[in-house]
Amino acid sequence: PRRIIIDTDPGQDDAVAILLALASPELEVLGITTVAGNVPLPLTALNARKVVELSGRRVPVMAGCDRPLARDLVTAEYVHGKTGLDGIDLPEPALPLDPRHAVDFLIETLRQEPAGTVTLCPLGPLTNIATAFRRAPDIVGRVQQIVLMGGGLFEGGNVTPAAEFNIYVDPEAADIVFRSGRPLTVLPLDCTHQALTSRARIDRFRAMGTRVGEAVAAWLDFFERFDVEKYGSEGGPLHDPCVIAWLLRPDLFRGRLINVEVETRSPLTRGMTVADWWGVTDRPRNATWLREVDAEGFFDLLTERLARL
Ligand code: BDR
Ligand code: CA
Repeated sequence: PRRIIIDTDPGQDDAVAILLALASPELEVLGITTVAGNVPLPLTALNARKVVELSGRRVPVMAGCDRPLARDLVTAEYVHGKTGLDGIDLPEPALPLDPRHAVDFLIETLRQEPAGTVTLCPLGPLTNIATAFRRAPDIVGRVQQIVLMGGGLFEGGNVTPAAEFNIYVDPEAADIVFRSGRPLTVLPLDCTHQALTSRARIDRFRAMGTRVGEAVAAWLDFFERFDVEKYGSEGGPLHDPCVIAWLLRPDLFRGRLINVEVETRSPLTRGMTVADWWGVTDRPRNATWLREVDAEGFFDLLTERLARL
């Protein structure tokens, strides 16, 4: 199996991504590192433990950075609720928080494992990854690939007209990651806004008749309300699960290898992903930018996999 580390700020869509990974034998999740993002760090760490416990699998969960590199933390309770995982109350998990700091875990794991065998899957602000890269530059070249959810071009932003949440919250960290020189695959809003929940799709989770199916349905009922009520969207976008789905079924996605740079200086466009889709510059092509997903295929995969838990 392909070995991955999930770096995350759960978040209902993060939670579904974690479950999808844990349900998939093609992937071996070495650890789940948590970061401040949708809600503050103590909650993202707790939520990740709850999700692992719900899955019935055992994977270490580490807490990492509690604030962005150079900015005040911006959270998104208005989307995810005050716990970050509103929709269903899950019990206090028996799985303890691993005492290692997420950044130490990232550094140690990348040093220990053979070079080029560990893929990083960031689903939140990039603070942990950038901190690890800054502190231990020797690990950067050992990363197999980075597959992340963040940014937007054709869809614009979801926090400001220019910026998507994960990049907006810690643009300096995103800049470090986009300049890292490692193969980067990006699942931006352009793609994730096509992976929308609907009544029928949520009912398929509920119809599983399992604890996982019930929790996912309850989370998504809560989560989709924001986009449907605020934007008149058809459903809630399952951003983060697209990262895991791409690892499992890249054939469901379409995109291009292009140059992408992150705006860190302008207050107006803070965290904007300046994506050279049309190749109008000769700047180096550092990221595969995915623009389309087969939503039916995506939801089929998700339901088939989650039913295994
Ligand atoms: C991203 O922001 C978070 O709210 C979601 O979990 C996702 O990672 C979407 O902009
Ligand atoms: Ca997230």
